[in-house]
Amino acid sequence: MLNPRKVAVIGCGFVGSSIAFSLIQRGLFSEMVLIDANQDKAEGEAMDLSHGLPYTATMDIHVGNYDDIADCALVIVTAGANQKPGETRIDLIDKNVAILKHIVPEIAKRNYEGILMIVSNPVDVLTYAAYKISGFPAHRVIGSGTVLDTARLKNLLGEHLDVDSRNVHAVIIGEHGDSELAVWSGANVSGIPLHHFCELRGHFDHEGSMQRLYEGVRDSAYEIIARKGATYYGIAMAVGRIAEGIVRDEHAVLPISVVLDGEYGLDGLCLSIPSIVGKDGVHKVLEIPLDESEYAALHASADRLREVIAHLDL
Ligand code: 2OP
Repeated sequence: MLNPRKVAVIGCGFVGSSIAFSLIQRGLFSEMVLIDANQDKAEGEAMDLSHGLPYTATMDIHVGNYDDIADCALVIVTAGANQKPGETRIDLIDKNVAILKHIVPEIAKRNYEGILMIVSNPVDVLTYAAYKISGFPAHRVIGSGTVLDTARLKNLLGEHLDVDSRNVHAVIIGEHGDSELAVWSGANVSGIPLHHFCELRGHFDHEGSMQRLYEGVRDSAYEIIARKGATYYGIAMAVGRIAEGIVRDEHAVLPISVVLDGEYGLDGLCLSIPSIVGKDGVHKVLEIPLDESEYAALHASADRLREVIAHLDL
């Protein structure tokens, strides 16, 4: 029996421990298991995080092993190397697929029936690898995808237009990485088409602004890594939002990384696509309207990822 209020975080580096912190702040779970190859590190994080419980909601945070994950509603994998300055996410593939090949069989052999969420990079490729290695149904294997990139876009657009970013509706899809794309054709602010809203706010160079904002989003991680060595708070909040959609069975639409089965004429890979998410994982992968250039960019992104997948021994 799954415990709908139990989560495991595998990998307690900057990203894993920030995710644990974000999940605690949201008060979604009553039990959290932390797993790391370095037991001391996991113990230290569990202790540190537990010290905030009198000021949040009661929960049990403890270090565990793979036997502890069998009844988790959600298992989040963050283990693996992070980008160093100058490295792309794809550059991490060999190291991180090797780590995944150790972790995922441990999960699968416990007959795990909950949701497996991959956060380690390159997230779309690793989500597909986890799907293949685990043998789990596609709806139970997801990646954090472009939920973070979409937040970055909304944030930049909110600043550009001096409007609350929560009223900005725009999405980044494709690879969580260099080949991602912004779906400008459907972007709007509370129903007002983006270009119209830009003009209301005194901005008329649409092409220039779109390119600048897109590059700002695409290159965010490089910019942050160049300054502070790693990114972790943004991804932690994005994962917190996905976990909320799952635990509350919200049927939220989020651009997570999903296994494609013919959507957009694509299959044999995972890509970040707006999907309806609830307690059973992916309810539906949405085929959102794309213009011709967006459709071509999505296929180019898929081609890029398929090249990487073709070199993996899955
Ligand atoms: C990020 O986009 C590095 O994928 C991580 O912040």
